[in-house]
Amino acid sequence: MSYDVIVIGTGPGGYVCAIRAAQLGLKTAVVEKDKTFGGTCLNVGCIPSKALLHASELFEETAHSFGRMGIDVGAPKLNLPAMMKFKDEGVDGNVKGVDYLLKKNKVDTFRGVGRIAAPGKLEVTDEGGRKQTLDARAVVIATGSDVARLKGITIDEKRIVSSTGALVLPKVPEKLLVVGAGVIGLELGSVWRRLGAQVLVVEFLDRILPGMDLDVARSFQRILQKQGIAFKLASKVSAIDTSGAKLKASIEPAAGGSAETVDADVALIAVGRVPYTEGLGLAEAGVKLDNRGRVAVDAHLATNVPGVYAIGDVIAGPMLAHKAEDEGVAVAEIIAGRAGHVNYDVIPNVIYTYPEVASVGKSEEDLKAEGVAYQAGKFPFTANGRAKVNHQTDGFVKILADTKTDRVLGVHIVGPDAGNMIAEAAVAMEFGASSEDIARTCHAHPTLSEAIKEAAMAVEKRSIHM
Ligand code: FAD
Ligand code: NAI
Repeated sequence: MSYDVIVIGTGPGGYVCAIRAAQLGLKTAVVEKDKTFGGTCLNVGCIPSKALLHASELFEETAHSFGRMGIDVGAPKLNLPAMMKFKDEGVDGNVKGVDYLLKKNKVDTFRGVGRIAAPGKLEVTDEGGRKQTLDARAVVIATGSDVARLKGITIDEKRIVSSTGALVLPKVPEKLLVVGAGVIGLELGSVWRRLGAQVLVVEFLDRILPGMDLDVARSFQRILQKQGIAFKLASKVSAIDTSGAKLKASIEPAAGGSAETVDADVALIAVGRVPYTEGLGLAEAGVKLDNRGRVAVDAHLATNVPGVYAIGDVIAGPMLAHKAEDEGVAVAEIIAGRAGHVNYDVIPNVIYTYPEVASVGKSEEDLKAEGVAYQAGKFPFTANGRAKVNHQTDGFVKILADTKTDRVLGVHIVGPDAGNMIAEAAVAMEFGASSEDIARTCHAHPTLSEAIKEAAMAVEKRSIHM
């Protein structure tokens, strides 16, 4: 069988790429090794984690916020199997949606492990070991990423878990040890803390959320501590003893020194993810990797081997579903002879905790490192009418604008619904807005988004409600 495009992997990068290629009239197929389509994001990532974040947030609200709004329902009781079923139904619905979309767009689907056998030849090996060779004018590698592991600590997905195991724990651990204060650690740590676990987060660096604006990270850490999550920064877990009924983790200062031992029922290892290229035959095909094992691509998402492209978590850049999707669209357009493009300066980043954390563009640390002169406008949710009336005043909006041109260079939000609000900032930045453009745009009252307008006004020290 012969195709214009074959995409290996059906995560948000792969399935979106295949649909766009088919829309453009290219004969397209996907190859997927797992039982369901949708990749990490739909099966064991974005979607199930957001279902548990949503359900556990409502559980906590029922316990702590309903009473003060005059809704007396008594103490909520956790039915964990039912909550897991709620999550699984959401995953199932999304996965089936991808199946439907691939069929609707007449994308052929092959089950098995894809390997680049020769230029223009893709070998697919199914579960039973049967092999089939497909011809392709272009191959897109969209094989995503896998959990990063710690030397000497074996993930059994029962007591020492990755995010995958942390999404299916059969009971709430009394004590949860989280290794890594990144996105996964804080999202899934929040889920289990809300459901009753004591959570300790151990982070190698002296701050949480590396890469995020430091002011945001510090303020967010204080909020999480108020909620009951404990942190041990500048520390590393050097070993976990699994011999007893409780895990015994050795925690050492990152800079060296004596270790202390901490008990836990479950340890979540969340120290990052690594590109997944196993079984693809890249070395034999001559496809180059970069120094971190990612498939190396040029500005057109092309590898060094003609006709082979790569997108998503398996290449450089933030490991985010929407980044993978946008690259999927761009590469399909490039293969079809059009001008596909991704603006890497405007990729929003959201942490779906309570409150949410969202950012787009540069942090203050980025701008200082680049020597760019900027002005910051900041507005707290304590001064926003809607946040106040809802008693949801944790957090702020911060806008960073170029001192000379006033162009918005970065927007950072800690606050309720920050993930939805950041879209306004992304659109504004995509259109090259100045802070004054945002400040002069009429925002509906009373909404949380007025905090964005006020932060924009604060860039020139003229916010009204502060
Ligand atoms: P993947 O989704 O990893 O898909 C790769 C696919 O390729 C898989 O289906 C795999 O089986 C298949 N494959 C691999 N090798 C082969 C082969 N040789 N042959 C055939 N098939 C193969 N991102 C967000 O933007 N928002 C979030 O809220 C979010 N939450 C997350 C929560 C968790 C717990 C995790 C782990 C990740 C989360 N992410 C989130 C990150 C997001 O899941 C990834 O960025 C995204 O899935 C990357 O998409 P992808 O298409 O590159 O790869
Ligand atoms: P991460 O890169 O966000 O965080 C890993 C953390 O572990 C870092 O703070 C790092 O300093 C720390 N660390 C590394 N080694 C350590 C050690 N030995 N001891 C203690 N700490 C150590 O990675 P994470 O949280 O695993 O997530 C992986 C990827 O998945 C992220 O890149 C993210 O983009 C994506 N993701 C996105 C989500 C979202 O968009 N809401 C949600 C979940 C994941």
